[in-house]
Amino acid sequence: MAIILPDLPYAYDALEPVFDTETMTLHHDKHHATYVANVNAALEKHPEIGEDLEALLSNVESIPADIRQAVINNGGGHLNHALFWELLSPEKTEITEDVAAAINEAFGSFEEFQAVFTAAATTRFGSGWAWLVVNAEGKLEVLSTANQDTPIMDGKKPILALDVWEHAYYLNYRNVRPNYIKAFFEIINWNKVAELYAAAK
Ligand SMILES: [Fe+2]
Repeated sequence: MAIILPDLPYAYDALEPVFDTETMTLHHDKHHATYVANVNAALEKHPEIGEDLEALLSNVESIPADIRQAVINNGGGHLNHALFWELLSPEKTEITEDVAAAINEAFGSFEEFQAVFTAAATTRFGSGWAWLVVNAEGKLEVLSTANQDTPIMDGKKPILALDVWEHAYYLNYRNVRPNYIKAFFEIINWNKVAELYAAAK
């Protein structure tokens, strides 16, 4: 077996005009596909460790040193993108009571959460991700990571993710990352966030 590139859970043009068709096509068919090909190439060198990327990335020391960074970069790249696609929705969804209550408890208000998340996404220098996670204490926390590092590596469970690599927004939003971040909030799949939160807490 090998890790398979999952299809997008909607059509390539389904998120127009917020996320454009060309970006979604390149992002999934080229960028995400490359992470899948590269993580498979790395894992083939050590069939004894299996292919459970979440387990491997939650204990990176368990990954053989000669493929460790390749699995972090490309295994993380695969998991992060697979999650990201699921967290976007062509149909408008509403935040659930559970998630809204947890956000209010952690940040004071939804507006404050959005400000903190936006700041994390905006100030992540270079390539990376912004996250809303459930931490080891079961509390919500906003953070950002570099490259394709995933919060799973620090024992944190992601429930919302935003790709802030330039490949995610440059065609539509050019260099203006803040406009892309603002637009993202229009297409969040709050049902998926609720599902991840219920599983994580
Ligand atoms: Fe990406």
